Amino acid sequence: MILRLLALALSTVFIYEAVGEPIHPRDSFSAKIEKQNKIALQGVLNNFGPKGSQAPGASAGIIIASPSTVDPNYYYTWTRDAALTMRMIVDEFTHGKNELRSYIQDYLKAQAILQTVSNPSGALSSGRGLGEPKFYSNITRFNGDWGRPQRDGPALRATALITYANWLLDTRKSSGAREAAEKVWPVVQNDLNYVAQYWNSTGFDLWEEVSGSSFFTVAAQHRALVEGSALAKQLGQSSTAYDSQATNLLCFLQAFWNGKYAVANINTQSGFSRAGIDSNTVLTSIASFDPEAPCDDVTFQPCSSKALLNLKAYVDAFRTIYTINKNTPNASAVATGRYPEDVYYGGNPWYLTTLAVAEQLYDAVQQWSSLNSLTISDTDLPFWQTVYPSAEPGTYEPGSDFSKLLDAVLDYADGFVKIALKYTPSSGALAEQFSRENGTAVSARDLTWSYASFVTMRAARLSATSNYPQIGSWGASSVSAPSGTCSASSSPGVYKPAIAAGAPPDAGGCTILMTFNVNASTYFGENVYLSGNTTDLGAWRPADALPGRADQYTEQRPLWTFEVELPQGKAVQYRYVRKEEDGEYVFESRNRTVEVPFCTSTEGGNDKVVEDSWVGPVGTQG
Ligand SMILES: *[C@@H]1O[C@H](CO)[C@@H](O)[C@H](O)[C@H]1NC(C)=O
Ligand SMILES: *[C@@H]1O[C@H](CO)[C@@H](O)[C@H](O)[C@H]1NC(C)=O
Ligand SMILES: *[C@@H]1O[C@H](CO)[C@@H](O)[C@H](O)[C@H]1NC(C)=O
Ligand SMILES: *[C@@H]1O[C@H](CO)[C@@H](O)[C@H](O)[C@H]1NC(C)=O
Ligand SMILES: *[C@@H]1O[C@H](CO)[C@@H](O)[C@H](O)[C@H]1NC(C)=O
Ligand SMILES: *[C@@H]1O[C@H](CO)[C@@H](O)[C@H](O)[C@H]1NC(C)=O
Ligand SMILES: *[C@@H]1O[C@H](CO)[C@@H](O)[C@H](O)[C@H]1NC(C)=O
Repeated sequence: MILRLLALALSTVFIYEAVGEPIHPRDSFSAKIEKQNKIALQGVLNNFGPKGSQAPGASAGIIIASPSTVDPNYYYTWTRDAALTMRMIVDEFTHGKNELRSYIQDYLKAQAILQTVSNPSGALSSGRGLGEPKFYSNITRFNGDWGRPQRDGPALRATALITYANWLLDTRKSSGAREAAEKVWPVVQNDLNYVAQYWNSTGFDLWEEVSGSSFFTVAAQHRALVEGSALAKQLGQSSTAYDSQATNLLCFLQAFWNGKYAVANINTQSGFSRAGIDSNTVLTSIASFDPEAPCDDVTFQPCSSKALLNLKAYVDAFRTIYTINKNTPNASAVATGRYPEDVYYGGNPWYLTTLAVAEQLYDAVQQWSSLNSLTISDTDLPFWQTVYPSAEPGTYEPGSDFSKLLDAVLDYADGFVKIALKYTPSSGALAEQFSRENGTAVSARDLTWSYASFVTMRAARLSATSNYPQIGSWGASSVSAPSGTCSASSSPGVYKPAIAAGAPPDAGGCTILMTFNVNASTYFGENVYLSGNTTDLGAWRPADALPGRADQYTEQRPLWTFEVELPQGKAVQYRYVRKEEDGEYVFESRNRTVEVPFCTSTEGGNDKVVEDSWVGPVGTQG
């Protein structure tokens, strides 16, 4: 908790509904935030199945990314976006919004079902299916081409549910302990096992564009294992694998720092070239925030030297590239986007990234306030000179310039919120982006994550400026800095349907990882798919056929490859399909059959490779 004395010393007036404080006339800005916060929370609930007004057809507990169905179509549920949103809902719930409980329970059940849905990333029995980024809103698989797997989803879902489990254990005594152990833990356990097994493999980043190792993902995974281990111990479950892989993850996390900022993605695909300045890293800082932690660089705490210097590098990268940021002094807040090289929808500022900057700074103020001390180092001096031009290295405590420095940070943070509000239409609707030219809404409307980011920013601001309760600790202060060489490692896990939480009991049977190799000469723009008579292969619907990979395609060997996990011991009929540039599908001329073998070992090694050669009509260029 923040020291009350200090909270009062801060000039910002606090107002929040929970205690019905009167609104101080001086603080009309806070009143604006409260008004937008109501709209934002409702905006999230509108996108929440089954009753959300903007989410028709979404299953109970499913959070769609946006109601937009065309240009772009975001009418899906993303594991990451939903988990970050649920984390916000759990925090709001534990801070007194009791009416949110049923949303959490619906989410838990939906995720228990979702974990069992086989998908192009894999199935539950191997754990691989947990890395699938998105599903249809009716909890069915999406077979289309996508950047998969994305390995942050299970970690973030675990964090959201662990926060809920901790509340159950803290406040509901025996009935809470039962709900935590019987319903929440089995879902969390699958996700933690996934992290412990697969963290050291590449995957796609949170923007779904880069294959490699993402700073955001690695930090989210580390956090999940640390708090997951504590929960496991409390529930009498084994935590050995989580502890050892958490140590390895924290060691690996240090590899992203380049001396000036955290590079968003490493181990990237060949040909990838970006400077690596990315909101990924600011989002990492707020996702790693622990109000009880010191300003620790190793876990990238919001008030740490590295996270502050990184924040400056990130914000500065947007000062000159957006028209709406032109003519703002170097020391003021500006609109920020995902990364400066972004071209998606023209590469605009995003609400959630601009608000994330404010949130990191509010989190940092909470930390300095709790510590009652603030140190400006040579490393983070450039950050401080932006917000407080006469700043000098040293340690500041109440009585010196401490409160002036904190006020300067709060003013700077408020500036980012003001920018987001300036470009919010009067309805309060938050799209994904706002135009770099003129600030009007761009891309998906009513983006769930945009709304959630407003709510978490507002809570962080209140905690920084009043006695509003802080979010829970995840144990960041208990981790020790890594030493020695980092280990590349993996702990194979066991995955089971979370039946008590609502997963179908007959799900989760053993699957075989099948690789289909087909020689099929194609021209540029023509692609090969795998279609068949099971839902895994799109049930003969061409639009649901599985996309293939051509990364080993050569003149000598025109190889298209498909990897798919299929239930053991079943026969499957299939054909390869070409998709022409004009969208037309051309099937092979005959059906093929393959017998999927039975699992003989639970330790893997059951994989099977099928070698084929295209039989049938070929496409013609143009
Ligand atoms: C689920 O939704 C998708 C996309 O709207 C639709 O194509 C599919 O038929 C639905 N499946 C079920 C089982 O309702
Ligand atoms: C695996 O871990 C090692 C040790 O930290 C690291 O050097 C390597 O880049 C990691 N690879 C991936 C894909 O995570
Ligand atoms: C703002 O920053 C840029 C880049 O660091 C620098 O070139 C410019 O002189 C600065 N402007 C002012 C007014 O300080
Ligand atoms: C704002 O800018 C966008 C391009 O970013 C443009 O498409 C749109 O027409 C502009 N709107 C107004 C009102 O100027
Ligand atoms: C697919 O075809 C195989 C081989 O004919 C058959 O044994 C199997 O039952 C079929 N699967 C479905 C889901 O129809
Ligand atoms: C062969 O494949 C087609 C799809 O191309 C499917 O509609 C048909 O039912 C299959 N034939 C048999 C005998 O299963
Ligand atoms: C695919 O092509 C390679 C290289 O030409 C050849 O060695 C292999 O036998 C072919 N596979 C089939 C199933 O025809």
